Amino acid sequence: MGRSTLGLSYGLTISEALIAPAMPSTTARAGGVFLPIIQSLSLSAGSKPGHPSAKKLGSYLVQSQFQSAGNSSALFLTAAAQNLLCLKLAEELGVIVSSPWVTWFKAASLPAIACLLATPLVLYKLYPPETKDTPDAPAMAAKKLEHMGPVTRYEWVMVGTMLLAVSLWVFGDALGIASVVTAMTGLSILLLLGVLDWDDCLSEKSAWDTLAWFAVLVGMAGQLTNLGHVGALYSAFLAMQLAAGVPGVLAALALAYNTNLFGALTHYSSGQAAVYFGAGYVDLPDVFKVGFIMAVINTIIWGVVGAFWWKFLGLY
Ligand SMILES: *[C@@H]1O[C@H](CO)[C@@H](O)[C@H](O)[C@H]1NC(C)=O
Repeated sequence: MGRSTLGLSYGLTISEALIAPAMPSTTARAGGVFLPIIQSLSLSAGSKPGHPSAKKLGSYLVQSQFQSAGNSSALFLTAAAQNLLCLKLAEELGVIVSSPWVTWFKAASLPAIACLLATPLVLYKLYPPETKDTPDAPAMAAKKLEHMGPVTRYEWVMVGTMLLAVSLWVFGDALGIASVVTAMTGLSILLLLGVLDWDDCLSEKSAWDTLAWFAVLVGMAGQLTNLGHVGALYSAFLAMQLAAGVPGVLAALALAYNTNLFGALTHYSSGQAAVYFGAGYVDLPDVFKVGFIMAVINTIIWGVVGAFWWKFLGLY
């Protein structure tokens, strides 16, 4: 797919959708996986940040990945940490989503996939790269792959563990295995087999940050509900929709999808937004302009395709 710039962007978008279910942090995927790839592709094509050459390749690839990341995160329950938090908060208000992973995926699939397929193409028209063909990219990738050598034992263990974790997240409900137990099992396997050591875990600063915040938020939201108040914006909106008679599962899911979908609106609307903006390939006016137009398109696709699809699935 790497021969043209559009193909490159589709390749990156599809890769993100594939690893998203096993990597529950949009920011980590942005900073740890995709931004480094985009930077090295752009630099090798002579496209530098904060320089007129940024428009050659880098700004388009960054913007396209940034816009599609939110749609990948909305596609899978385990693609972003706040997704699980939302369902937990919904539970506190009495909305139980049964077999959550599958229900989530089913309801998100059509609108999210439509959006993922549209994003690189829409941006290609709206915010075109100056370099349209990248004939050297596949050859460069092949050379780099050869340089990296065959897949190591640790890498196979990692692949196996990810597959195990995702299967248990999908079927866990039927087997009676909670998603937290699955996550801990995966981590234990990586630690026992030496893929990670405890120092690696300690140095994951942003993961500890997320853990501490979410623990506090879930606890607080639960307490506030018990005391008769609502804990967070999500709970407030959900309670309002329930009171207005919106079916519980539909309201819980649609609101949860939206926590991902606003993430590409500005350079501070999500963790990954800061990461992508920080790379210096996209100017601030462009962030707002493209963010606004894409948000309108997004609302239309999710509104129209979603409304049709959720009716079809019998959610309302
Ligand atoms: C999701 O896809 C749509 C359609 O291409 C796009 O408008 C939107 O900006 C995308 N990203 C996010 C985070 O919503």
